Amino acid sequence: MILKGKKGIIFGALDDKSIAWKVAEQCAQEGAELVLTNAPVAFRMRGDSNIKVLADKLACQAIPADATRVDDLESLIEKSMEIFGGKIDFVLHSIGMSINIRKSKPYTDSNHDFMMKSFDISSISFHKLMQSLWKKEAMNDWGSILALTYIGAQRTFPHYGEMSEAKALLESYARTFGYHFGERNKVRVNTISQSPTMTTAGGGIDGFQDFLDYSEGMSPLGNASADACAAYCISMFSDYTKYVTMQNLFHDGGFSNMGMNPKIVQ
Ligand SMILES: NC(=O)c1ccc[n+]([C@@H]2O[C@H](COP(=O)([O-])OP(=O)(O)OC[C@H]3O[C@@H](n4cnc5c(N)ncnc54)[C@H](O)[C@@H]3O)[C@@H](O)[C@H]2O)c1
Repeated sequence: MILKGKKGIIFGALDDKSIAWKVAEQCAQEGAELVLTNAPVAFRMRGDSNIKVLADKLACQAIPADATRVDDLESLIEKSMEIFGGKIDFVLHSIGMSINIRKSKPYTDSNHDFMMKSFDISSISFHKLMQSLWKKEAMNDWGSILALTYIGAQRTFPHYGEMSEAKALLESYARTFGYHFGERNKVRVNTISQSPTMTTAGGGIDGFQDFLDYSEGMSPLGNASADACAAYCISMFSDYTKYVTMQNLFHDGGFSNMGMNPKIVQ
């Protein structure tokens, strides 16, 4: 029970394939007290595999909040602190969405209003979240804030489109806010760069099965599953990683350090 006594907010459990769903389940198994949250629209979707079903199963509350709205975030943080009877030990930002990809706009014909919205949802929401936690002095000292990202931030994967820039911005917020939170509260801020994983967000990308197959073949350990990603998140919320901060941590079976794998040359 490495999270016994810890209290955390988890963003982004849309259905039972979501990485955040697995993180929530493993947090509960490890003894954490949770508040779950997602965009209001997510509360009206997915029938039996809905965030409210997960909240019932884990005996915790699920509170709607649009992560692009500071008033929603502030109210979520206040309500969570009331439920916990104190401050927060860990937060997971597991949110991503590209409007241009969703509307099948090619990267070279991007709509820039859509692009701004994609950055707001996928990246600026992370700054809004951390700034709200900061202003409300909501984090316990030695707490942990984590966001999920993808190696498209560093390398070009043409079908990943504007999400490449969205993830680069997200990772940069982790470093810069990590400095401020570290100095003031000893709170660590990191991103985990996960292998391609078959979820709603992942599956929305053109040619996603090719992403999966290519990285499976390139990675000596194969692709990391959503369950394995959740286990890594748990370790980042635990006291075993107290001095890891301002990092982008690859959880990808070795993919990020490979140049060529003879296995897939044919
Ligand atoms: N699936 C992959 O291949 C993969 C790989 C690396 C990183 N990631 C990242 O992991 C994270 C989780 O994605 P996932 O694969 O579990 O897919 P998912 O579709 O299950 O999760 C994405 C979540 O973002 C939420 N969201 C969208 N707009 C929101 C808003 N305005 N406010 C609050 N929440 C909002 C959705 O409701 C959903 O729960 C994302 O950041 C994604 O980019 C995914």
